[in-house]
Amino acid sequence: MHDLEAPIGIFDSGIGGLTVAKAVSDLLPAENLLYFGDTAHMPYGEKSSSAIQAYSIKICNLFLNRKVKAILIACNSASTAAFDLVKEYVGSKAQVFNVIDPMVAYVAQNYPQQKVGLIGTKQTVGSNVYQKKLDATNTGVQLQALATPLLAPMIEEGFFQNNISASVVANYLESESLAGITSLILGCTHYPLIKTEIEKFYNNSVTVLDSSQTVALAMKEQLDALNLLQTNQQHEGAYHFYVSDYTRSFEASTRIFFGKEVVLEHYPLWD
Ligand code: DGL
Repeated sequence: MHDLEAPIGIFDSGIGGLTVAKAVSDLLPAENLLYFGDTAHMPYGEKSSSAIQAYSIKICNLFLNRKVKAILIACNSASTAAFDLVKEYVGSKAQVFNVIDPMVAYVAQNYPQQKVGLIGTKQTVGSNVYQKKLDATNTGVQLQALATPLLAPMIEEGFFQNNISASVVANYLESESLAGITSLILGCTHYPLIKTEIEKFYNNSVTVLDSSQTVALAMKEQLDALNLLQTNQQHEGAYHFYVSDYTRSFEASTRIFFGKEVVLEHYPLWD
């Protein structure tokens, strides 16, 4: 039996998952959140599946020690490489969510028979995880995917909404692999931070699909169905952030996203 006051643990390799954590906090303001940014191992997208699995299990151990009721893998690369393993590892101790399934369901429902683009890390794109899950929906979505490995480190370094990010984005999006798409999945949780540059590149002729709200809504519905949501809706959720390596950009982004005093704790994963 879970304590309804128990926190929800959310993790990513860095600031990307904050886009998802923000959507969760907007939708579920009464929930307590723990956030882990594994900045020491960023970028996950360049790592092997087994390395990402090892980091994910260590982060989940911290969350389980803090008695979370749910874990949200707010990273496409870790959702790709480690979701099944984490789910099995965590078992009945907490509900486990990823950022891919809600987006796949959304695209299958809203873009059947269409050419849909996907950008993400090498890990996510190379695994074909979106393609496989979309194929299983039998909706005739034709996925055109491109790995864009420079984007997450660029964003993590604070290069977004400026001319450098706009030009890197343009370089990638001009690729033949994305020709003729009607919509584009942001298959990395860092990318909502450059959504404006992407929309500008397409002159708003392509719909840019950011998964954060879809993911937050899917988690809310499932926790609600399981009677796991905080019952005292007047409660103001408390947030605790952990980073495996302290970075200025993490602290700055956390303050920008959450706009209030946040607790930021350095928590080296190898301890
Ligand atoms: N934000 C992560 C994702 O959604 C990955 C960025 C990285 O560490 O490579 O894939």
